[in-house]
Amino acid sequence: MPGLLQSLFRLCFGSRMKQFDGIPGPTPSFPLGTLGEFSGKHPWDVCAEYGGRYGGMTLFWLGGTPTLILNDPALIRDVLITKFDDYYKDYPIKALKPVLKETLFNLNPPEWTALRKPHCHPLLIEGYDEWLRSQFPVIKKVVDRHQMLMSAENREFRLIDRMQRLFFDLHNSMVCGCDFEDGGFENFYAISVMATTRMKFPPPLLIPPIRPSFHRAMRLHYGAYEKAVRKARTNPDPGANDLLHVFLRQGVEIPDAQIVDFLSEFHAGGNISAAVAVVNTLHLLNSNSQIASELYAQLAQICQRNGISPESMEQVPLLDQVLRESLRMLPPIGVFGRNVRRDKSATLGGHVLPANTAVLMCTAHVQRSPSHWKDPDTFNPGRWTREVIAANPIGSDYFFPFGRGPRMCAGAEMAMFCMRIILASVLSKAAVKTSGSFRPVLHCGVVETPDLMGRMMPHPSATTSSAG
Ligand code: HEM
Repeated sequence: MPGLLQSLFRLCFGSRMKQFDGIPGPTPSFPLGTLGEFSGKHPWDVCAEYGGRYGGMTLFWLGGTPTLILNDPALIRDVLITKFDDYYKDYPIKALKPVLKETLFNLNPPEWTALRKPHCHPLLIEGYDEWLRSQFPVIKKVVDRHQMLMSAENREFRLIDRMQRLFFDLHNSMVCGCDFEDGGFENFYAISVMATTRMKFPPPLLIPPIRPSFHRAMRLHYGAYEKAVRKARTNPDPGANDLLHVFLRQGVEIPDAQIVDFLSEFHAGGNISAAVAVVNTLHLLNSNSQIASELYAQLAQICQRNGISPESMEQVPLLDQVLRESLRMLPPIGVFGRNVRRDKSATLGGHVLPANTAVLMCTAHVQRSPSHWKDPDTFNPGRWTREVIAANPIGSDYFFPFGRGPRMCAGAEMAMFCMRIILASVLSKAAVKTSGSFRPVLHCGVVETPDLMGRMMPHPSATTSSAG
């Protein structure tokens, strides 16, 4: 029977299969192609497994639609950097369109090119690095408030919920200079759930959302940013240092409706993935008590001496090492995609790929490549020496949790800064004990673990052993 279904597949899609001759992959059967391989498994695990089984490029079939999975850093570099113009972003744009409106995420050149530049996107203001550093007290205030709430609870809480809420408040404070009234987060969350649901459907089956509660959440969510932009326009505060005011002061070249879309994009881009990265880091620390104790001790010491500040955090290199190692082992976005341009074929790894072929890039596998990383499955922050950081910057061949190339995450620097402050502030005063299952699910394309619980605890006695 399997042989018959494989022959039937060849009969139906033989000419298409010929176009991919020589690319290894599981044998497709009629009618699902190789979709059965995903049954009962996480898609990002299957993509990573293919790296071990078939090498850098694997062909699999979603029914009669061919898709390539890349597990080779040189091929990924070709798609995202060297031959950037040969590809465009397709999935999940159709799913996200009604939720995100016009943002960097869901546009392609030439519209994308026209917006990812100074005076058009708030993350590209002049003096961005200094502005970000100046946000330290703003971030710290939000983190301290959330930390008090978590400590006061004196019981377990769902870690991902707390971290998402923290990032929501944090982005609003930095971007608009305000926390929105209660209900703001719930509107954002309802929108993100709609995006997740839509991302599960094949694009031809996607119809515009009809649920009234979704449209209400959209109105309120975007309405909050419309109000913020109107206020900053009509009654600007000359001393305000939030991103919106600084951006407007520098003279913008886009309409206000576009600014509103960009302000909302901070949540879509950052809340879920950055919350996941912090939760993953807490989980890894919890499973590696020696490293955790050392980090607690070092943070407690600087906290007692000078308090947490951008300067004092730099005196604890272990903090940055822990964060990098967490992003290497558990990248929040394990797989993301491109398509060959619609109007011409592309050459990749010696193969000519027909127009519009889908290509998936597997961060999770490459970042654990044994040919590059010693004991890749071991949580070893100590591997991130100064030399290793210089040789593997964010966005390089074997370390690209934020993607790479011209479309690399626009918020990477902000995310790293905020995550360091959160971890330093929280862990300088308490340990976070995690429990429950590390069951991963996809939320807006990000791998989150909704069952993982956390509880604030006093620091265990510090040890003096070295990390790694
Ligand atoms: C740990 C946190 C984060 C992770 C792991 C992450 C990851 C990523 C990845 C992998 C991409 C590239 C997708 C692709 O090439 O198709 C991306 C794009 C993007 N991210 Fe992030 N991100 C994070 C935080 C943030 C934050 C805080 C913001 C906003 C402040 C943000 C805004 C964006 C935007 C706007 C894009 C689209 C860039 C473009 O296509 O031009 N991200 N992110």
